[in-house]
Amino acid sequence: MKIFTGSSNPQLAAKIATYLNTRVGDSQLKHFSDGEIWFKYNENIRGCDVFLMQSTQPPAEHLMELLIMIDAAKRSSAKRITAVIPYFGYARQDRKDQPRVAITAKLVADLVDAAGADRVLTMDLHAAQIQGFFNIPFDHLYASAIFMEFFKSKEIPELCVVAPDIGAMKMARAYADTLGASLAVVDKRRPSQNISEVMNIIGDVKGFNILLVDDLIDTGGSLTQAAVAMKAAGAKDIYACCTHGLLSGDAVERIEKSPICEFVMTDTVPMRQGVKSEKIRILTASKLIGESIRRIYNEESISSLFINQK
Ligand code: R5P
Repeated sequence: MKIFTGSSNPQLAAKIATYLNTRVGDSQLKHFSDGEIWFKYNENIRGCDVFLMQSTQPPAEHLMELLIMIDAAKRSSAKRITAVIPYFGYARQDRKDQPRVAITAKLVADLVDAAGADRVLTMDLHAAQIQGFFNIPFDHLYASAIFMEFFKSKEIPELCVVAPDIGAMKMARAYADTLGASLAVVDKRRPSQNISEVMNIIGDVKGFNILLVDDLIDTGGSLTQAAVAMKAAGAKDIYACCTHGLLSGDAVERIEKSPICEFVMTDTVPMRQGVKSEKIRILTASKLIGESIRRIYNEESISSLFINQK
């Protein structure tokens, strides 16, 4: 087994390697003067089971790096290439929701496939059915395994799990079932890409402590608006968790100013340097991903890692 990383999240790759009691393989990433990417494995990988770590958050160079790493591994006669993509970007465009638009999730799946990956390991896809865009084996992990343990230990009374939009409903239901909480959902509209509006709250939140759950936070608009709506509807303490904290623009400031008392996310996407927040807590996904890599390598079950996932 050999693990290599691109530049999108080397910190997470290092933690995963530590979990697996190994090291991140030696490779070289360089750029031509115009920015083109050049990549080389500095050690022999012929006949190896290689795991290439790369989250594909912007810029798109991260995706390009991954494709180049896969191609280089294929041409170096690796026995099996697993693209480990903790955060699978470009997944929000997963269908034609209006005329004359692209389905980027399918495009990226085709690119990873065409580059020569033999299998994919990722976590909390924006929509689980994106797995079907690939024609290779696909392992899908759930960060809820990390978050549920955390929130269970907090023993928050009168808890209501809230989905900030209909898309997060299934995930929210799984949390509610496991945490013995009630369930509510926000009816959100998106008049344009990064603008969201809360229309209604479906369910009872008055007098409850709230746990908002989502797969990703970009501008923080959906989450913080949902939190404001919860407070206005009479909710008590508001907690939130999300798998992929992209936290673009002034998302961190928004969270800071929101009624959310604690926001928990994983490290699938690294925090921008210098960004600090008292409210934000990061739980590492390295053990879950590392254990999954170990199981893939040993041909063991991955589904048995999860409880209550539908
Ligand atoms: C939407 O379907 C997603 O699950 C997130 O709620 C959304 O993409 C977050 O975006 P933002 O933080 O910009 O509102």
